[in-house]
Amino acid sequence: MVNALVLADLYKTYPGGVMALRGLSLMINEGEIYGLIGPNGAGKSTTLKITVGLLKPDKGGVLIYGKSVMRNRIEALKLTSYVPENPVVFKNLTVKEFLRFITGLRSIKWEEIIDYAEYLVEGFNLSEKENTMLYQLSRGMLQKVLVTAAFLVRPKLMVMDEPMAGMDPEAQHFFKKEVKRLVSRGATALISSHLLDMVERFCTRVGIINKGRLVAEGTIEEIKKIASEESSLEEVFLKIVKG
Ligand SMILES: Nc1ncnc2c1ncn2[C@@H]1O[C@H](COP(=O)(O)OP(=O)(O)OP(=O)(O)O)[C@@H](O)[C@H]1O
Ligand SMILES: [Mg+2]
Repeated sequence: MVNALVLADLYKTYPGGVMALRGLSLMINEGEIYGLIGPNGAGKSTTLKITVGLLKPDKGGVLIYGKSVMRNRIEALKLTSYVPENPVVFKNLTVKEFLRFITGLRSIKWEEIIDYAEYLVEGFNLSEKENTMLYQLSRGMLQKVLVTAAFLVRPKLMVMDEPMAGMDPEAQHFFKKEVKRLVSRGATALISSHLLDMVERFCTRVGIINKGRLVAEGTIEEIKKIASEESSLEEVFLKIVKG
């Protein structure tokens, strides 16, 4: 098995004193769709930001395909795409300009991916918005553009913070189909979400994070066994998180 991602003993305290991560470790193999779930403030977004090098941990390390995000940043992050929790983007670009800009940053030739870009834009029902500025999009539309960009850059590892936030059912369906397709072709996904029904049906493995620590991990079946009951992921989640 190939390790797509290793998070080793991450600690992070924010200025102001909030201890967001307290020794978080996890490993994701190539081909997994790993769902990271946990209550508000558990440390999911902090974990994902550290994974993609946007935040520096106080302690611990991140390896993407064996490459250290701290020591070999460019090599590690070249393999990675990221959907942020809060879309902070250049909103004075049109959808098309934005997608060209993002792929250009990765030195991907637009001509090589134009067909795929069109497929994604159509799949997300964004064709009519191609020449619309990002600030003129609805929240769900903007989310679909960010996800499109994350698919387009040929990622080995997709790191997505609540990627389906604001997406309509059709877009959610297309999103899941596309993640599965990319994963079947060798990609890997780390997805944080509060949509437990989706996680239960879609993810190959789940980690539950609470107060900066991983408190349970496994396939859905394994997690249910930890809670020693046959119930939904939601019920298991509540039981584990409430202790
Ligand atoms: N920039 C920041 N400065 C100070 N504290 C922060 C900052 N960002 C996050 N925190 C704190 O760190 C903790 C973890 O936050 P984080 O955003 O990682 O949680 P989360 O699991 O993503 O939550 P949510 O489900 O609400 O998105 C919280 O207590 C939060 O208040
Ligand atoms: Mg978050």
